[in-house]
Amino acid sequence: MSGIDILGTGCYVPEYTLSNDELSTMVDTSDEWIYPRTGIKNRHISKTENTSELARIAAERAIADSGVSKEDIGFIIVATCSADHIMPSVSCMLQKLLDLPEHVMAFDMNAACTGFVYAMSIANAMLATRPDRLALVIGAEVFSKMLDYTDRSTCILFGDGAGAVVARHNPRGALQEAIFSRGDADASHIYIPGVPFAGRQEPPYCKMSGQDVFKFAVEAPIQSMKQILADLDCTIADMDYVLFHQANARIIASICKRLKIKDAQLYCNIEEYGNTSAASIPIMLDEMNRKGLLKKGHKLLLVGFGAGLTWGTLYMEW
Ligand code: COA
Repeated sequence: MSGIDILGTGCYVPEYTLSNDELSTMVDTSDEWIYPRTGIKNRHISKTENTSELARIAAERAIADSGVSKEDIGFIIVATCSADHIMPSVSCMLQKLLDLPEHVMAFDMNAACTGFVYAMSIANAMLATRPDRLALVIGAEVFSKMLDYTDRSTCILFGDGAGAVVARHNPRGALQEAIFSRGDADASHIYIPGVPFAGRQEPPYCKMSGQDVFKFAVEAPIQSMKQILADLDCTIADMDYVLFHQANARIIASICKRLKIKDAQLYCNIEEYGNTSAASIPIMLDEMNRKGLLKKGHKLLLVGFGAGLTWGTLYMEW
């Protein structure tokens, strides 16, 4: 097995914080309703910055943390479902904004809240073909710009942010993934409208069947986690950390109870950021890195799940 080394991390969230109490002045809700059902107290909301700006700052921090030369970057992958434009992509914008060399392959990919797990899997495969180059892998979202703030069932959940890593191929490393999708072809679980057709354009708002998504989210990640553990011939107790996409604290608690994951194996920050979609896992990685929680050789599971439907678990060693 080969894998990747993460050489540096960075994240950025907008300054403005929208609390449950402030939300309850905008829509019929309350901290008493939101917090016990979701674990969310605050979310950071962009006022003027779009996804490329959040991604730029997170990426600059990751590059600085890694200490690498920009010339060595060969791939930019931005996982996002809230790109500034359909084209140019956020990753192409970043190539210019970060003054990266023209030899980079830059592209965005959308696997919704599983985006960072998918992007790391892609980066691992691409780095194996060009071990002399580095990958800049980013999850970045301004989900708040796609919310209907009169819809209390969705607007309470999401926030904005970006996280980034710089990764290098490691021929003696270990990275393995179990990745899935189940096409929600009638977009009945969670969706955001896309390209407008003549005479028909829906408002660009996220709509969701909360209970259906909840049922999916407490089941599907368990499948991918069990598969990874079987492939690795490991148990969950062998893992130092399990980083779940931060969608809902009750979803995480339900999975942890069933798989007997201990509190000491978890890192969560949903209380402060809400659901930042593809950004949630790299934001956690950066926070943990800066706090010194991640030690060489630590075994990590990154667990994503979201619209598409998509889900997956990625095993890697720090
Ligand atoms: N504040 C107050 N009341 C609310 C509310 C809010 N923010 N949102 C919904 N309600 C009300 C509903 O209107 C409903 O009222 P009614 O019984 O009078 O009709 C009641 O609360 C129950 O609604 P329901 O949708 O059944 O609530 P729930 O317990 O399923 O919780 C979610 C709603 C959205 C928190 C929950 O379904 C969830 O977290 N789903 C997963 C969403 C997710 O994580 N998506 C991203 C995946 S990556």
